[in-house]
Amino acid sequence: TLGGTGRTAGAKQEPKHETLRRALLDLVEASAPHDPLPSERELMTRYDVSRVTVRRAVERLGQEGRIYRVQGSGTFVADRETISKSLHLTSFSEDIRARRMTPAGRMLLMERVPADVVNARDLFVEPGTPLIHLERLRTADGEPMCLENVWLPETLLPGLLDRGEPASLYDELERAGAAPDSAQQTVRATLVDATQATLLNVPPQFPALCVERVTRDARGRAVERAVSLYRADRYDFTFTITRER
Ligand code: GLP
Repeated sequence: TLGGTGRTAGAKQEPKHETLRRALLDLVEASAPHDPLPSERELMTRYDVSRVTVRRAVERLGQEGRIYRVQGSGTFVADRETISKSLHLTSFSEDIRARRMTPAGRMLLMERVPADVVNARDLFVEPGTPLIHLERLRTADGEPMCLENVWLPETLLPGLLDRGEPASLYDELERAGAAPDSAQQTVRATLVDATQATLLNVPPQFPALCVERVTRDARGRAVERAVSLYRADRYDFTFTITRER
């Protein structure tokens, strides 16, 4: 439980949430960046305080930038030096595991196609260049989450079409020496059409987030163009943004 405030009798008592805030700050300072903080319930028990007190202390530390929250996962120690790094380039598999769910999926299409004008422009290849096209229904804990179309130059992953369905495309690219390193990404709101609705198990015209990504490896080569359609009721984006001075 929280120790005394060390103040003399008669002096105004420090509010409990402030005492707890200082105790939690000690904990934060003794932890490594991105370490999880104990849950609300654990903090209530450990410090013998009410939920309101815990919330106020945690809220203050959040406002001070010492901790951050990830929807559905919990509260973590902020990395004060490299805060912009929390804008991570993740694969679907990593992204879903970070949300404490299990990624899986179903390959709907796996084919060789000649690059059309849009893919040629974004992947910096000549129109007609052989591309691998994958269409995957991606699930989290068995429920449809995302309908994803990816195009990439076949020369990057020769033999993929014969090997069959990859569990993780980013793992494949990494093994092939073309590990994803950075990406240009656009997110927009959209409505699903009838076919997409059936696959995603939602009514037609259901809202979705459309994420378009062109990804490069460390040498600057474009390694994929992906268009991912996420169910708006199951997915959101959280990122840390900083103000340039
Ligand atoms: C996300 C990205 C896609 C990328 C995919 C790879 O969904 N939006 O651009 O192709 O991750 O995920 P995995 O490695 O799990 O196949």
